[in-house]
Parts: sequence; structure tokens; C-alpha cells
Amino acid sequence: MIRVEELPQAISQVKTWRDTEKTIGLVPTMGYFHEGHLSLMRKSHELADKTVATIFVNPRQFGPNEDLEKYPRNLDRDAQLAEEAGVDMLFCPSAATIYPTNYQTNITVDKLSQGLCGTSRPGHFDGVATVVTKLFNIITPDIAVFGKKDYQQLALIRQMATDLNYNIEIIGHDIVREKDGLAMSSRNKYLGEDERQEARCLYEALQMAVATISEKKHVDASVLKNTLRAFLEKTKSCTVDYIEIVDSITLQRKNIAQAGDILALAAYFNDKVRLIDNVEL
Ligand code: PAJ
Repeated sequence: MIRVEELPQAISQVKTWRDTEKTIGLVPTMGYFHEGHLSLMRKSHELADKTVATIFVNPRQFGPNEDLEKYPRNLDRDAQLAEEAGVDMLFCPSAATIYPTNYQTNITVDKLSQGLCGTSRPGHFDGVATVVTKLFNIITPDIAVFGKKDYQQLALIRQMATDLNYNIEIIGHDIVREKDGLAMSSRNKYLGEDERQEARCLYEALQMAVATISEKKHVDASVLKNTLRAFLEKTKSCTVDYIEIVDSITLQRKNIAQAGDILALAAYFNDKVRLIDNVEL
């Protein structure tokens, strides 16, 4: 595996692969790898001749009061794990490389960036769409693998790839969870021991919703959301940011919940750690 920071070197490596007709898979990340990230890399390694993983803690997708400065980083460990997962190039550009002085262009995906995390994190998805567009242009992959953990992000990137005529297959990968069901996330590191135990309530809430739908088939979405909110708020450290039941493609809110819909939620633990999760009902 080669580790690359500079743009010309990344572009020339991609060109060498293209000249020998290799297919390329891309896995964009912000680093601090866990099994969720690594499973995306293994998937890409399985599907494409060459895999590029990127690590870039993208300042444009963090709000002013968010965790950009303290976002966890461990480049050497990440490099070793990426190599073991079959990555051929680990591209770790600096902020100045991605956004040079006088950078001015933003990508907005209108509807899909609204609602859910778009409401509590204004501008977040513009930052995501912009950096992913740039990575698509730099790496020119044949496939790109994203996790369903960030369901809205995946939906928005699919839409963007279609709208902007990228000839890239967007692959959604299942959520990788800890043994007790908590979705793996770089931000789980911020949880104290008690909070970590309490955070299992998120997965329990998702499971309650799945069980309700498989039993009753059609359910009034507000009733189900209220039940789940009440369940989550029994956990002292947990404050719900949102619970929504949405269509799996348009992400429009549903009045009647049924199989195939997405239940998505975000919650704060002790008002400081914000976690998201979702499930297909
Ligand atoms: P990051 O949070 O580092 O996640 C990188 C990729 O890993 C995303 O596609 C995310 O959905 C996936 N992922 C994270 N946790 C996962 C889990 N438990 N199971 C499966 N996949 C998981 O998402 C981003 O970075 C950024 O927004 C990015 C797309 C890199 C743009 O900056």
C-alpha cells in the first residue's frame, strides 16, 4: 500500500492504473478506523482491481460548535489497518490541498440535504457533497462504497452521482455493530463507561420498531415515534435530537410506517456526544 498526501502523486498513481485498465474502488473516510470502515474497504477490494481509501477530516462538513478540532485521529494505526483490509493507496490530503486559498465552489443536493441530520447540522451535507465530488474527480473511481450507517449521506451521494452524470456505481454497505448492537462510530470513543452502556438503548429502540412493524404491518408513524422517544428518554443521559420514519429513497416523512421504510434517529448523550443510527423496517 502506498500512502499519499500530495495531489499530483495521487493523480499519477490513478493514471498508471487506468493505463493498465485496472478498475478502481473508492472508500472516502475521515479516519480513526473501526470495523465499519474496514468492511467498506474489504468490499471495494473484492469488487475492484485497486482500492483507494481516503482520510480527510473535512472542515466544511463541521458546524461552528462541532467537534472538528477534537475529531479523533490516528494515521499510523489507520494505515496499517487499511493495508490489511486490501487498500492499495491511502490518500490523506491536507485541508490546503482540498481547499486552496480562494476556493469558492459548493455542491448542494437540494431536497435530500433537508430534514433528519440536515436540520440539526445546517450546511453539513453541502460539505459532504462538495468533498465527495472532489474525491470523485481526483480518483475517478468505477465504484465507491459508503455505509448505510449514514443513510441520508448515502441517499444524497447516489442522487448527486446521478445528477452530475458520474459513471460511478455507488455501493451501500450494511451497518457494522458492536456485540450489543451499538453501531460502530469514531465518535463512540467520546462516550464514558456509563454512557457507553446506556447507548445500547438506540439499538433497542430500533429493534422495538422492527418488531412492531413485523407484528402489525402498518402503524401510525407518530404513535410509533412517540413510543420510541419515551423509551429512549427513560435513559437519563439520552436526549433525542430526532426520530423519523421516512421513505427509503426520497427520505420524505411517512404518516403510516410499513416494511421497507427507514427509521432514523439521532440522540445526544449527556448533551455532548451525538450518535446516529437507523434501520430498514
Ligand atoms: P466517516 O464518518 O469516517 O465514515 C466513512 C464511511 O464509513 C461512510 O461511508 C460511513 O457511512 C461508513 N461507516 C461509518 N460507520 C459505519 C458502520 N458502523 N458500519 C458501516 N459503515 C460505516 O462519512 C464520512 O466519514 C464523511 O462524511 C465522508 C463521506 C468521508 C465525507 O467527508
